[in-house]
Amino acid sequence: MDAAAQDDVACVERLVAGTIYDAGDDVNEVAKEAYLRFFSANALYPKTFPSVYGFETEIIDWAAGLLNGPDAAGSVTSGGSESILMAVKSARDRARVRHPEIAEPEMVVPTSAHPAFWKAAHYFGVRPVKTPLCPGTHLLDLGAYLNAVTDNTVLMVGSAPSLTLGMVDPIPQMAPVAAERDINFHVDSRVGGYFLPFAERLGYRFPAFDFRVPGVSTISADLHKFGYAAKGASTLISRDEEIFSNQVFRFGAPERTDDWYVTPSMTGSRPEAVIAAAWAVMTYLGEDGYLRVVGDTLKHIRAFQAGINAVARRAGPFRDRSRGRGRPAPGGCGCRRGRGCTVSPRLPAAHRTHAAPSWRTRPPRRTGRGWSARPAAARSCQTGQ
Ligand SMILES: Cc1ncc(COP(=O)(O)O)c(C=O)c1O
Repeated sequence: MDAAAQDDVACVERLVAGTIYDAGDDVNEVAKEAYLRFFSANALYPKTFPSVYGFETEIIDWAAGLLNGPDAAGSVTSGGSESILMAVKSARDRARVRHPEIAEPEMVVPTSAHPAFWKAAHYFGVRPVKTPLCPGTHLLDLGAYLNAVTDNTVLMVGSAPSLTLGMVDPIPQMAPVAAERDINFHVDSRVGGYFLPFAERLGYRFPAFDFRVPGVSTISADLHKFGYAAKGASTLISRDEEIFSNQVFRFGAPERTDDWYVTPSMTGSRPEAVIAAAWAVMTYLGEDGYLRVVGDTLKHIRAFQAGINAVARRAGPFRDRSRGRGRPAPGGCGCRRGRGCTVSPRLPAAHRTHAAPSWRTRPPRRTGRGWSARPAAARSCQTGQ
């Protein structure tokens, strides 16, 4: 095994950005211990492994609190891609009920969105309508995005932030359009979901992206990124039970008894080890721990920004050569007049702590919002037993 791993990035050297999320040896040990403790447990069978009820419910409660969704419901998935797949399936199935006239469903997806949306489009038969970014700034071309919404649209998509570009889309100017049309709006916050809420508490400002924005229906947020959990853990959170119900697959009568097999995501068996490890890290770090780690990360980001800006100052004004005309980038986004590029969602330097309600001091709410707290579904998950 050592020989097989010799060309792998050495996690312990912590020199890689974007795939390894490391909050320290102590946090890794907590995750590993919980993972091994539940190594063989299967979250498909919560009656056999009732511990999964508590873990998953508390994770979903925590996420709902962080994302300001008082009525939210959701489940743990295997990663950001599966969360996106389920968000697209959920939007498509919800539209089948609310807009039965739509025969050829479409979703509006900015170019900056993750490829998993195209994968979901392929799997679930929803046509992706790709919309451009503003040249130079790489921000969403809001005008083009809104123009792409048609009577066939069943889902609108935004990122907070996007893969590689790191932009938080202007969700407050996007999602209300979905609300007006009674369709879903998904925020892919795989990277930001467990980071931005803490950054906000530390005084950083960026466009609102969570359930406070009218029209946001579902949010994906990865536990295995800035949640610092073991790999293979994300969450898909729906604004409420009605929206969540479209995510769930039910199999039963007439082949079997009602709801004999019910799953909230693509997989059947789900490793409880991953869910337990995520819960253990979340409980171990608590709000104070996440604030500390996020604060440290932001300090490093600021140091990088300062270094890059110093290099840029030495190099002279940036010219956008992507269109071959060498026009200055700021303000020269090239969008047609009236279509409106969005303002830059840059993080300001302000670093204030303000009192925010602590999710940790909140008593865990076992309101049935978490997938695992739904006894009827749980009972029916006793597949093959
Ligand atoms: C914004 C965003 N969404 C979705 C994904 C897909 O997540 P996963 O690789 O966990 O399936 C990624 C992965 O990098 C991402 O950055």
